[in-house]
Amino acid sequence: MKNKSLISINDYTREEILRVLDLAGEFEQDPSQRILEDKVIATLFFEPSTRTRLSFESAVNRLGGKIIGFSDTASSSSTKGETLKDTIKTVSNYSDMIVMRHPVDGSARYASEVSTVPVVNAGDGANQHPTQTLLDLYSIRKTQGTLNNLNLFIVGDLKYGRTVHSLLMAMAHFNATFYFISPPELSMPVEYKMYLDQRGLKYYEYTDFKEIIPEADIIYVTRVQKERFSDPIEYEKTKNAYMLNNSMLQNTRNNLKILHPLPRVNEISTDVDDNEKAYYFTQALNGVYTRQAIISLIFGLKN
Ligand code: CP
Repeated sequence: MKNKSLISINDYTREEILRVLDLAGEFEQDPSQRILEDKVIATLFFEPSTRTRLSFESAVNRLGGKIIGFSDTASSSSTKGETLKDTIKTVSNYSDMIVMRHPVDGSARYASEVSTVPVVNAGDGANQHPTQTLLDLYSIRKTQGTLNNLNLFIVGDLKYGRTVHSLLMAMAHFNATFYFISPPELSMPVEYKMYLDQRGLKYYEYTDFKEIIPEADIIYVTRVQKERFSDPIEYEKTKNAYMLNNSMLQNTRNNLKILHPLPRVNEISTDVDDNEKAYYFTQALNGVYTRQAIISLIFGLKN
């Protein structure tokens, strides 16, 4: 992990994933450790973000490091026509690590190939969001006491949702049974289903989940990713496909937790927020500890 970029969740082995989670637990106990005092981290966000950017910046601040960067492409020279390659080569001269979000699938891998410092993928198009997945796994293990043999329901936009693509790959290490719930237009792409087939893992596809909800250990709800649709009419057709509400949670397992990478639009009713099974805001908090762990391991400041 030391000095390595993190672009796909598959850049980390099962053991490395577990090391991140263990270390995140240590940061949760003791979040203010000033071990980054001589480090500069650049956050380059070519797409909007609240949680990912601010939890990375909170993590760096709590570790005593410095942040540079931009949160809006309009304030960077890419609006003048600068290429991603030139931006990354320049910023890698100014920083010790680059955290980048970009709308194009594969852009983070490309950035890591032209950067002289490690690159952390904060989401590339509909492809991957590995640091989200690590905080998701932290949240799942913390609430379930294990990552093994769980029934993982993934609901919503399975086609364009990058968080669910990296979550699927990570949970494949832990013998999850997957329940994919989506409108047909937004179903899980075939390459991810093949990924599970190749590993002998079970998955089921549904367009509704009212009947099967009693089987869930985790319900991972996602927003329909408006920004990825080329046709606004297609978005309008699917945007309200699911809305989880409190009454749907009556006949569910005691250990069930509702996760969502956020932002939420209307796929989880606000009446769920006070239900003890709702975990999404604590999940977002866990992003700080998990990102502290990722940064520390990449800098070799923790083993
Ligand atoms: N979960 C997530 O990526 O949220 P943001 O878009 O707010 O960073």
